[in-house]
Amino acid sequence: MLSHIFGLLTWLLLTASRTVAISVPGSVPGTTSHFAQVGGNTYHYLRSRPEGTPIGTILLLHGYPDFSYGWRYQIPHLTSLGYLVITPDMLGYADTDAPAEFAEYAKKKLSTDMALLMDQIVPNEQIIVGGHDWGADLTYKLTIWYPDLVKAFFTLSVPYWPPVFGLSAAPFVDLPYLVLNNSFKTLGYELQWRDFDYDRRWQNETEIHWLLNAAYGGLTANGTNPLSPYTGFDLPLLPHLLPNTLLNASDLAFYVQNYAKKGLRGPDNWYRTYHIDWEDELQIAEDLAGKRVFHMPSLFIPGTQDAILTPSTWNNSGQYYDNLTIMPVNAGHWVMPQAPDEVNRILTTWLAGLSN
Ligand SMILES: *[C@@H]1O[C@H](CO)[C@@H](O)[C@H](O)[C@H]1NC(C)=O
Ligand SMILES: *[C@@H]1O[C@H](CO)[C@@H](O)[C@H](O)[C@H]1NC(C)=O
Ligand SMILES: *[C@@H]1O[C@H](CO)[C@@H](O)[C@H](O)[C@H]1NC(C)=O
Ligand SMILES: *[C@@H]1O[C@H](CO)[C@@H](O)[C@H](O)[C@H]1NC(C)=O
Ligand SMILES: *[C@@H]1O[C@H](CO)[C@@H](O)[C@H](O)[C@H]1NC(C)=O
Ligand SMILES: *[C@@H]1O[C@H](CO)[C@@H](O)[C@H](O)[C@H]1NC(C)=O
Repeated sequence: MLSHIFGLLTWLLLTASRTVAISVPGSVPGTTSHFAQVGGNTYHYLRSRPEGTPIGTILLLHGYPDFSYGWRYQIPHLTSLGYLVITPDMLGYADTDAPAEFAEYAKKKLSTDMALLMDQIVPNEQIIVGGHDWGADLTYKLTIWYPDLVKAFFTLSVPYWPPVFGLSAAPFVDLPYLVLNNSFKTLGYELQWRDFDYDRRWQNETEIHWLLNAAYGGLTANGTNPLSPYTGFDLPLLPHLLPNTLLNASDLAFYVQNYAKKGLRGPDNWYRTYHIDWEDELQIAEDLAGKRVFHMPSLFIPGTQDAILTPSTWNNSGQYYDNLTIMPVNAGHWVMPQAPDEVNRILTTWLAGLSN
């Protein structure tokens, strides 16, 4: 009985603090696992401490289809430079909540979630933010909505576009029209991914394995890529792909296991908020029209082999920034695992410049 009460007390304490230090096979070395209540949802995040007192805090935002583990090559490097590193599973992913309602994934709301999360972890501190893919988009939005929070930021793969795709004037124009009229035809794949029927295809670990193997570069035996920027995945091909060469078998299994927790509804919801985002951002878009948006030091690391985000999508980005450094690396879309040493070298140099 006593031990029951003690067990209950321990459980209550752990639940109340929402913090568990665990070490999961396959997880990122040097990190501990934590939970925080943020804006009605529970977020899971990795916390990685440097030796000694941190010289600053870096928040890392992953993209689609990824989770906190996508930063595994950068986290230990950044802590070795003296930073405290916070890496959430973004809303919809892995051990973070995954509400079904897509309005929960509006980018202003997600920006507020990140600001509230950082308020809990390092209150009153200016932070450095790093983002990849949708995490890059959220880095721009977080910086626009909470400029005082962000001391400097770096993004990978996805350049800044003024809201929404630079077509901010009323009325709202939705993506299917822009794909059809050829102004954004390489975003045709998003039309597949935001279709609600698409989420339901990924119900068990086998199906999720097919999807993630394809997303990370799995090809057919004759070298056909099942992913087209114009139309998305060629779904009947997915069960027949060779193993991708980017995630080894144990990493892919770790991804599958984490995606099986929540399914694809939450991750796909990131593609469904353009109209809400447009409404949220209309005033800001008008205020910022023709002006520079970002005043803090900024770094952009594009992959030169990215099939969708080609150089013409980012080579004019400088107009939006006071202080942008562009450092292209020889990689495709998955810049962090494809060019880990180069990315870490670029970050080292850029971060050293910040402290001068
Ligand atoms: C497509 O439509 C958008 C919104 O009406 C317009 O701004 C753009 O110029 C059009 N593009 C082409 C190629 O017609
Ligand atoms: C998972 O889905 C695949 C394809 O739909 C199906 O063939 C397989 O039987 C399912 N596996 C389980 C364990 O339900
Ligand atoms: C390669 O394989 C795919 C799928 O099996 C098939 O549709 C395509 O025609 C093949 N291409 C060539 C060049 O053989
Ligand atoms: C798979 O890759 C990860 C790094 O992403 C590495 O830690 C692990 O040792 C590799 N596993 C095997 C079996 O090679
Ligand atoms: C950007 O790329 C486009 C297409 O490749 C090219 O026409 C343009 O001159 C480039 N602009 C700059 C500033 O390099
Ligand atoms: C731009 O930012 C870097 C830090 O990344 C800093 O060293 C440099 O002085 C800044 N340049 C200007 C013109 O503000």
